Amino acid sequence: GLGTINIPVYVHIVLPNANDVSNSQVQAQMNVLNDDFNSTNANQLPSGATNFVNDATITDINFSLAGTFRHNDSRSSWGTNNAIKSAYPPITPDTHLNIWVCNIGGGILGYAQFPGGNSSTDGIVLLNSTLPGGSAAPYNLGRTATHEVGHYLNLRHIWGDGRCRQDDFVEDTPSSDGANYGCPSYPTVNCKTTDMTMNYMDYTDDSCMYMFTDGQRNRMRAIFASGGARASM
Ligand code: ARG
Ligand code: ZN
Ligand code: CA
Repeated sequence: GLGTINIPVYVHIVLPNANDVSNSQVQAQMNVLNDDFNSTNANQLPSGATNFVNDATITDINFSLAGTFRHNDSRSSWGTNNAIKSAYPPITPDTHLNIWVCNIGGGILGYAQFPGGNSSTDGIVLLNSTLPGGSAAPYNLGRTATHEVGHYLNLRHIWGDGRCRQDDFVEDTPSSDGANYGCPSYPTVNCKTTDMTMNYMDYTDDSCMYMFTDGQRNRMRAIFASGGARASM
């Protein structure tokens, strides 16, 4: 097997005052990623969520901070068209996850590039206030990064971005017909199955997200194998 996968991370903070995001927030964000990807977070399943009780997986993927770069830039919103990546290009994206932290605008929390795309735009972009301790409650516990890194590692939304028969290509995530928001009560049933609303790849509140599944772990890890889209890491 591949064993533990270590992903070194470069963080680019691009804000009118780039010191508004502190080093301790950046480190807290790294800790959230490591906890979420290794099922060592403190989240709990909703009481009675018996059918998912053994489904939170350990991906054995770790993240380590390789460098933080601050750019004071007066631009007030960057959109989702990769403009920030042209202005501040990724550093060695074949071997490093690049994370841009900025004001995206339009109420967008984050966006990501799937594996296999152009290396000049590879990485994820986060709204600055989604980092732990930020002001984007209920999305300020750092789980936007977890969700976006999920996309970066080939995961789809658990509803497959379509109706019930649209797949996310993961066997053990029940099908659903759309995103869930807030902190849904259990069970939330769509497509005749109980939604895994606490999965990181749904749209629920940070405090109500809890897990990746074994199937998601296998789909993510597959891209690091020989011939996979992130084998160079
Ligand atoms: N809407 C964004 C996306 O689809 C991020 C959702 C993040 N959700 C959260 N609870 N932090 O990529
Ligand atoms: Zn998403
Ligand atoms: Ca599924």
